[in-house]
Amino acid sequence: MRKPIVAGNWKMNGTLESIRELVAGLKAGIGEVNVAEVVVCAPAIYIAEASALTGGTAIALGSQDLSNAASGAYTGEISGSMLNDFNCQYAIVGHSERRHGRGESDQLVAEKFKAAQDSGLTPILCIGELLEEREEGVTEQVCARQMDAVINAYGVAALQNSVIAYEPVWAIGTGKTASPEQAQEVHAFVRSHIAKQDQLVADGVRIQYGGSMNAANAAELLAQPDIDGGLIGGASLKSEDFLTICRAAG
Ligand code: 13P
Repeated sequence: MRKPIVAGNWKMNGTLESIRELVAGLKAGIGEVNVAEVVVCAPAIYIAEASALTGGTAIALGSQDLSNAASGAYTGEISGSMLNDFNCQYAIVGHSERRHGRGESDQLVAEKFKAAQDSGLTPILCIGELLEEREEGVTEQVCARQMDAVINAYGVAALQNSVIAYEPVWAIGTGKTASPEQAQEVHAFVRSHIAKQDQLVADGVRIQYGGSMNAANAAELLAQPDIDGGLIGGASLKSEDFLTICRAAG
């Protein structure tokens, strides 16, 4: 069976002091999380500190982005191997705040996905539709297109060592969560889309839900058969809330 995975995406929040406090809170409660894999995705500048704080604990570390290039003249970028140096195991790619906020194309996201895997990191591939796309009834086409950018370039097997995060853009940071039924419907579609090419990969890949998941609504979402965890923004900044979600995952 698929091991649930809950990841906190801290986004551009926190200070050195608040991060120390947050991780201390997580370390104090992580022992009660029996089944789920737990990840925190720190802002790049705090990765080194987060690495030191989480080292030797059950909390894995991730980045929120990475460069599609391996090294070279790319001012401001951070490579997969640099993240590896600080024991990162995961890298979020294609978050909507980068696709829509920073104009990242499906192709660039696919290249970042590959760059993560080339460095031994597990990419967390974010997909999801805008509100107007949902209203137009093209949610499935959008998610398929975003996945196909990776599948067509690197083959369906590339999804084996990855996590997919379905994050409907209209649910991110808005307090408007997809209902468990709405989320399950898209998660089932995502899995079936992969299954068309490889049933084993589809059965094994973990699909997180993200978008206003919190301590109160997590259990219902995580109870859906194709929801294998969560990618949590706001609620990952409070250790108690985040731990409640992790416990709800298994
Ligand atoms: P919120 O949980 O704040 O809605 O953010 C979700 C998200 O974007 C996680 O990557």
